[in-house]
Amino acid sequence: MPKVLIADSMSNVAQKIFEKNNITVDIKTGLSEDEIVKIISEYDGMVVRSATKVTKKIIEAAKKLKVIGRAGAGVDNIDVSVAKENNMIVMNTPGGNANATAEHAFALIMSVLRKIPYANETTHKGQWEKKNIKGSELSKKTLGIIGFGNVGVRLSHLVKGFDMEILVNSKSLESRKKDYPHVKNVNFDELISKSDIISFHCKAEKDGKPLITKEHYKKMKPSAYIINAARGNIIDEKDLNDALENNLIAGAAVDVFSKEPAKENILFNNPKVILTPHIAASTSEASIVVAEMVANQIADYLVNGVKKNTL
Ligand code: MLT
Repeated sequence: MPKVLIADSMSNVAQKIFEKNNITVDIKTGLSEDEIVKIISEYDGMVVRSATKVTKKIIEAAKKLKVIGRAGAGVDNIDVSVAKENNMIVMNTPGGNANATAEHAFALIMSVLRKIPYANETTHKGQWEKKNIKGSELSKKTLGIIGFGNVGVRLSHLVKGFDMEILVNSKSLESRKKDYPHVKNVNFDELISKSDIISFHCKAEKDGKPLITKEHYKKMKPSAYIINAARGNIIDEKDLNDALENNLIAGAAVDVFSKEPAKENILFNNPKVILTPHIAASTSEASIVVAEMVANQIADYLVNGVKKNTL
């Protein structure tokens, strides 16, 4: 009977699916790299979210491991190339949390434009900041979406009622643009210079370099807002902080960080920035969907040899 290790906490639906497929499951979360190294040779499959880093050391100790499944989209916590060299399959669950992430990006947009966190905090304290809080509207503004995969597409649909122009920067959009008549694909420089809100929904560069440089901020509108619910290293946090301090842009909302968990960060306490702790995909609905997807995919591979959503 195949045996799977669930190494990060996730919906118990995953365990049920494995058991239904006669797969033995161990749930051992919060283990260190060395603790996983000691036990991983027992397992045929491993499931993670983002907390566990599936390192070269773990992979090389995993003598029987055939598949590593990520309940989520990003696989930057898995050494995919070493896994492949060791004949393991890496799977993710694309689309499973796309709506949750797009809705969070939208919540960040509204929060930063209407200064909701500041309004909430000061009202709770009995300060009546009505005169000092003036927001901006979405109507007639331009939203720039960088990356047009599941999340970017969903965000473009969510804002449809807001009377916005939507610019997209995506290499893959050209071949499928007839499906998205509500957006216009433009180059990166045009998008950042014309957009009022720039929202990242792309992967980080392979070399980890940020997509936005100091020069890019100079091309943006001083009233522009940046939203990042994709990956922390897409933006250099110091450059973003400098751009805000020099009034090159108006504000930012950030869900992802160069180092997570973020215990200290240059953006902390910057009043122009709203921060959330990588929770864009954290909804009750999405956590069930990604657990279901990853467990079904792993079970189907271990039992029937069917490969789905492999990298
Ligand atoms: C993802 O890659 O699916 C999201 O960033 C969510 C997560 O990492 O938990």
